[in-house]
Amino acid sequence: MATLTVNGSPREFGGDGNMPLLWYLRDELKMTGTKFGCGMALCGACTVHLEGAAIRSCVTPVSAAFGKKVTTIEGLDPKGQHPLQVAWRAQGVPQCGYCQSGQIMQAAALLQSNKKPSDADIEGAMAGNICRCGTYTRIKAAIKQAAGVKEA
Ligand code: FES
Ligand code: FES
Repeated sequence: MATLTVNGSPREFGGDGNMPLLWYLRDELKMTGTKFGCGMALCGACTVHLEGAAIRSCVTPVSAAFGKKVTTIEGLDPKGQHPLQVAWRAQGVPQCGYCQSGQIMQAAALLQSNKKPSDADIEGAMAGNICRCGTYTRIKAAIKQAAGVKEA
């Protein structure tokens, strides 16, 4: 039995380690905040953190997380009060909402490594997260609000 930590809780896994981490999170742990979009690492809807780094859980085998820490949108902040979540609400970012947990997890990884990102830093870090509703302007504004960086 392999073990991993998901949102601070130890978990055991006894199945096929080639299963995508996304499947494990959604189907076995019932953590459905992380979304399936393309299944090919092209959209970012499935973004979670593995040891603090943003990864695409649709193409990451669960075995890659054995002995490691995974954080999903459900575990980013126990009360939904991460500065990005506060800013997301203040800016009214989501439209349909489907891409948004992936967007927030990608942005959270950015702010962990770069507390005051420039416009170019934000654009570079978020380029792989697609929003079919086109909420990009509000996403950028919310990241800047969370980082305490003024709008240009
Ligand atoms: S579902 Fe993983 S990147 Fe699109
Ligand atoms: S809010 Fe609809 S896809 Fe981004």
